[in-house]
Amino acid sequence: MQTVHLKVDPDNPNPRIIEIAAALIREGETVAFPTETVYGVGANGLDEKAVQRVFKAKRRPLNNPLLMHVMSWEQASSLVTGIYEEVLLLINRFWPGPLTLVARANDLVPPLVTAGLSTVGLRMPDHRVALDLIKAAGVPVAATSANLSGRPSSTSARHVMKDLNGRIAGILNAGTTGWGIESTILDVTRTPFTILRPGAISRERLEEVLPGLIEAVRPQPEGGGRMRAAHYRPDAQVIPVKPGDNLAELAQAQAAKGKRVGVVVATHRELPTLTDLVVVINGGSAEYGRRLYEIFRMADSRRIEYLFMEIPEEKGLGAAVADRIYEAARR
Ligand code: TXA
Ligand code: MG
Repeated sequence: MQTVHLKVDPDNPNPRIIEIAAALIREGETVAFPTETVYGVGANGLDEKAVQRVFKAKRRPLNNPLLMHVMSWEQASSLVTGIYEEVLLLINRFWPGPLTLVARANDLVPPLVTAGLSTVGLRMPDHRVALDLIKAAGVPVAATSANLSGRPSSTSARHVMKDLNGRIAGILNAGTTGWGIESTILDVTRTPFTILRPGAISRERLEEVLPGLIEAVRPQPEGGGRMRAAHYRPDAQVIPVKPGDNLAELAQAQAAKGKRVGVVVATHRELPTLTDLVVVINGGSAEYGRRLYEIFRMADSRRIEYLFMEIPEEKGLGAAVADRIYEAARR
């Protein structure tokens, strides 16, 4: 399959170009598109055959559900039932934006989208290109991060093409994405609402709107499996480094044994020597989040064996970054 490459201005996309991508969606094909978090790849969410193509393109296991990407709350609410009143406060405050709501699906939602679950994830991206695409397509777009299954999410069209060129019908290229880490996923099927995946909207921001109604990630047996799919893990052994640990010393000890070592430094002043990859984060958790997946990809391409990553303060966006690092460190 030839992937049609469509370049657009992120702030003012040419409607004729959007229409080319929207027509592909209407024809049941797959299209990658930017969002404010990471790139997505999606298809007509009401057409089971089209949805199947998304799974195929990504080599995604069929038991891992997609998210319905919508252009409005009106469109989202046509797909679900039994919405709590409090959900509307969240919508008012955070939509469009990186907050995915897991709600009870109705019969309009094909079982393939939800992987047979009774719930569906609703997401209204805060990106002009994504919204224009969904609008022009005229249907909700069932989508997921635009990477091969098991690879990190894509924060640029280049990453998307590396994974999916020739496997999808089209890509809308609007440069790099803003947040770099995925949306927060909140289960709103019962109270208190539960964060299933920490993400771009922090727990603190949710609590400002609904004090006492937000619960952290639901703990699961054996520390895992709270989501259907595991997060990405690079080839390297990731070693989370807490404040107070001596990152330079730890890294140098491995490098001295001849290992290929990478470090991601967020607060330390002293940079280790002898390492094969050094990344310095100056801009706090926001920058860390934006660069995280690029760092993982870089570590893989440089065949890093040990990747030492400083854990940011687990507040606000830092909690989402820390979550991805701890996941990456799990074996
Ligand atoms: O920022 C984002 O959320 C990006 C952009 C493209 O929108 N999307 C994204 O999709 O990260 P994906 O498929 O990579 O991650 C969605 C996660 C998956 O781990 C999936 O298992 C989970 O959401 N999920 C989907 N539907 C669910 C449901 N009904 N209940 C619980 N988890 C669900
Ligand atoms: Mg993903």
